[in-house]
Amino acid sequence: MKFLVVNGVNLARTGIREKGVYGGETLEKINGELKEFVKAHGHEVDFFQSDEEGKLCEKLGQADGKYDGIVLNAGAYTHYSYAIRDAIAGIFTPVVEVHMSNVQAREEFRKKSVLTEVCKGEVLGFGKNSYKLALESFWL
Ligand code: DQA
Repeated sequence: MKFLVVNGVNLARTGIREKGVYGGETLEKINGELKEFVKAHGHEVDFFQSDEEGKLCEKLGQADGKYDGIVLNAGAYTHYSYAIRDAIAGIFTPVVEVHMSNVQAREEFRKKSVLTEVCKGEVLGFGKNSYKLALESFWL
């Protein structure tokens, strides 16, 4: 199987920003580990990151049908982007929503995701392992 991992706004600064919340490893390092993890299970993975809402929507549309599953951490867009929600609702490839932090245990505004309803499922609170659990969900 082939997967796409999409990271949204501010996720490029993982390992630099708010290390106590998101950990000290860079996105590049995490993606490298995810690549090995997926490969070890006989699958393939591509990566995409953008801070721009429109580019994330565009990528989701372009990815439709090209992957068996998409893992998406939309960052703060999770909580208010109807554009990303519509992009997910408008494709056939299943999307699993991911958060490194436990958004339910943080500020009030993070408790609401406008994406969950149109996603196959959601994984949150396990740091970089949230991505692994989300990927694994496609082949378990
Ligand atoms: C996040 C949680 C969001 O609330 C936040 O805006 C992020 C990262 C997470 O991975 O825990 O940027 O999606």
